[in-house]
Amino acid sequence: MPLARSLSITSLSGLEEWDEEFDLEDAVLFEIAWEVANKVGGIYTVIQTKARLTAEEWGENYFLVGPYVESNVRTQVELIEPTNPALKRAIDKMNSSGCKVYFGRWLIEGSPYVVLIDVAFTAWNLDKWKKELWDNFSIGVPWFDREANDAVLFGFLTAWLLGEVGSQCEEPPHILAHFHEWLAGLGLALCRQRQLPVATIFTTHATLLGRYLCAGSVDFYNNLADFNVDKEAGDRQIYHRYCLERTAARCAHVFTTVSQITAVEAEHLLKRKPDIITPNGLNVKKFSAMHEFQNLHAQSKNRIQEFIRGHFYGHLDFNLDKCLFLFIAGRYEFSNKGADIFLEALARLNYLLRVNHSDVTVVAFFIMPARTNNFNVETLKGQAVRKQLWDTAQTVKERFGKKLYESLLVGQLPDVSKMLDKDDFTMMKRAIFATQRQCQPPICTHNMLEDSNDPILTCIRRIGLFNSSADRVKVIFHPEFLSSTSPLLPMDYEEFVRGCHLGVFPSYYEPWGYTPAECTVMGIPSISTNLSGFGCFMEEHIADPSAYGIYILDRRYRGVDESCNQLTSYLFQFCQQSRRARIIQRNRTERLSDLLDWRYLGRYYISARHMALGRLVKHLFFTHSAQGFRYPRPASVPPSPSLSRHSSPRQSEAEEDDDRYDEDAEAEKDRLNIRQAKALAHYVIVTQPTQPNSNNFPVQTLKQ
Ligand code: UDP
Ligand code: G6P
Ligand code: GLC
Repeated sequence: MPLARSLSITSLSGLEEWDEEFDLEDAVLFEIAWEVANKVGGIYTVIQTKARLTAEEWGENYFLVGPYVESNVRTQVELIEPTNPALKRAIDKMNSSGCKVYFGRWLIEGSPYVVLIDVAFTAWNLDKWKKELWDNFSIGVPWFDREANDAVLFGFLTAWLLGEVGSQCEEPPHILAHFHEWLAGLGLALCRQRQLPVATIFTTHATLLGRYLCAGSVDFYNNLADFNVDKEAGDRQIYHRYCLERTAARCAHVFTTVSQITAVEAEHLLKRKPDIITPNGLNVKKFSAMHEFQNLHAQSKNRIQEFIRGHFYGHLDFNLDKCLFLFIAGRYEFSNKGADIFLEALARLNYLLRVNHSDVTVVAFFIMPARTNNFNVETLKGQAVRKQLWDTAQTVKERFGKKLYESLLVGQLPDVSKMLDKDDFTMMKRAIFATQRQCQPPICTHNMLEDSNDPILTCIRRIGLFNSSADRVKVIFHPEFLSSTSPLLPMDYEEFVRGCHLGVFPSYYEPWGYTPAECTVMGIPSISTNLSGFGCFMEEHIADPSAYGIYILDRRYRGVDESCNQLTSYLFQFCQQSRRARIIQRNRTERLSDLLDWRYLGRYYISARHMALGRLVKHLFFTHSAQGFRYPRPASVPPSPSLSRHSSPRQSEAEEDDDRYDEDAEAEKDRLNIRQAKALAHYVIVTQPTQPNSNNFPVQTLKQ
C-alpha cells in the first residue's frame, strides 16, 4: 500500500536549528485552508469567526493562506504590500518564478493578513508536480479530478511559500503551519518530506471516506472498525484523495479533529488517533441590551411573514400570528444532513396537528443549494402580487386620508359611507382579482435542473406535503444560500435564522455542525443529534440540554423509524408551547453563547500549537488542561428524573399571564454557575523534560 509509509516522519533533522532561546513571540503562524476568503461550507465559518481572536493573539505574525478567487477578492479583500520583510521577499521570489501570489487584508473582524495563491496560473506545473507526488509518496492523481488537481497545485505552492519564507531569513524562523482539511493537506506532507523547520498541525473537519460511506446505505457507526479502507475508497473512486488526506494526518506533528465522534472515525479510517480535539467556536457578539436579540427575532420574523404573505397569496387561510418557522440549512447532503428524516417527521407532524385540530401552522424551510436555473415565475409573481396589494392599500389609505383631512378642515365629521368612492373600489377589486390562483403555492422557489431526480422533491412527492390548505405543515425549498440582495427573500442567513423559531438539523453524518451552534448564539432553539459533534459537545457540557432549547435526537442507539418518531414528538411538543414559553426558552438558549465562544474554545487551538512546537523543539513542553465544564440546569428547572422530557419551559395558563416570572434572577444564577464552572477549567502551561514514545514523538504530559 502506498500512502505515507515510504516517508519517514520521525526525522527531526533540520529542526535542531530552532534555537535554545526559543521565544513564542518570534514565532509566525500560517493557517492554510481552501476556504480562506472562499466560502464553501463550515470550514469558512471556522476560519472567519476565529480570525479576530487569533489575530489578537499573534498580531503581525498571523497569516492566512488560501486560493485566489477573483470574485471573492473583489468583495472581501484589500490587496496591500506584504508587511513582513521575509514574506515579501518570498512572495516576490515566487512571483518572479512564474507564480501569482497576492497579499492583503481580509475585510472581516480582526482584519487578518491573507496570502492568496492563484493555483490556475501555475497549472503548467501540474504534470511535473504530480510526478513528484508519485515518486515521493506513490500517490497518483487522475487528470479528470479537478478538485484533486487543485489540491496538488495548492499543496506544492504552499510548501514552496513556507520553504521560501524560511530561506529568506538570516535567523531560522519559527514557523507554525496549521493546515485544514485534505484539500490543503499536501502542503503539510511536503513540508515534512522536505524537512522544513516548520511545526505542523493538521485538522480534519470530516473524513472523506466517512462522508462518502454515510451518504450511501452503509451502517457506518457499527462497522467503523471493520471497513477495508483502501477498497472502500477505491470503490468510490476517491482513493487518491483518501491517500492525500491520510498522508497529511499521518505526517502532522499534531493531528486534530473537530469533535470526539470524528476522532473515533479518524482513528479507524485514517489510522491515527487525534492528539487533541479542537471544537469549533463562534465570534459571539454581546448586545448591550439583554433582550435585544428578542427584538431582532421579532423584526426578522416580520420580514419572513411578509415573504410568506406573497408566497401563499390566494391561500392565506392560516393565522400568521400562530405560524411557526422551522428550517434546515447547509450543504445539500440529503441523508447526511438528515433532510430525509426531517421530511418524514414533518409528514407525521402534519397528521398529528390535523387530528388534534391544532390552530398552529408550521412552515418548514429547506435552505440547501442545488443546481437551478434561477427563481421560478410563480414564486416571483407571489412577491409581486403582495407588493401590488400593499401599494393598493397605501393608495387607498392616502385618498381616504385626504378626504378625511378636507372634511376636518371645514369643521365636519366625515360621512364614512362616502369615504371610499367607486374608483377606490375598482382599484381594490382589481388587486383582489390578481390574487386568484389556480395552483397550490409552490414548494420550490427555483427552477431545478434535476427536478425529477432531486431527493427533497422526490420525497415530498412521496409523502404528499403539497402546501394544500388542509395541510398544517407547509414546505418551502429554497435551493440557494440566502442573500440580502435576493428579490425573493432579501435577508442574509443570520437575519433569517433570527426570525425563525426552531432550527432542525437531524444529521446522520456531521463532524461538528455549525448551523445549530449559530442558532444557539442567536437565541434560537435547535434540534441536533448525538451523531453530530455539536450535539455530543452540548450533551457533555450541559446537564439538561433540552431545558435550554438544545434538543438532541438519538440517532446512535435507535433505528431510523424510532428516531423519526422522537423527532416528530420534539416538533409536536414545540408546536404546543405558548408564546411566553418560547420567549423564556430563547432567553435560556442565548445564555449558552459563552460556551461556544472562541474566547473559551480557542484554548484548544492554543494547546494544539503548543503541542506541535513541543514536538519540534526538544526542550519546549507544555501541558494542558483544556478540559471543559458542565453547564448546569437553568436555575428555575426543578431537578427531576424526567427532566429531559418535561423541562422545556411549558407553563400553566396562570403562569402565562404572570409577568413577575423572574428571568433576570434565573439568568444571574446561571451566569454565576458558568463563572464557577469555568474557573474549574483552568489551563496550565509548564515545561518538562520528555521521553520519546514509539513514534519518536515527545510524550505529552497531561497535568491539571
Ligand atoms: N450558511 C450560509 N448561508 C445559508 C445557509 C448556511 O452561509 O444560506 C452557512 C452557515 O452559516 C454555516 C455553514 O453554511 O456556517 C454550514 O456549516 P456546517 O458546519 O453546518 O455544515 P457543512 O456545510 O460545513 O457540512
Ligand atoms: C420577541 C419579542 C416579542 C414578541 C416575541 C414573539 O420576544 O420581543 O415582542 O412577542 O418575540 O415570539 P414568537 O415566538 O411568537 O415569534
Ligand atoms: C465540515 C463538516 C461540518 C463542520 C465543518 C466545520 O464541513 O461537515 O460538520 O461543522 O466542517 O468544521
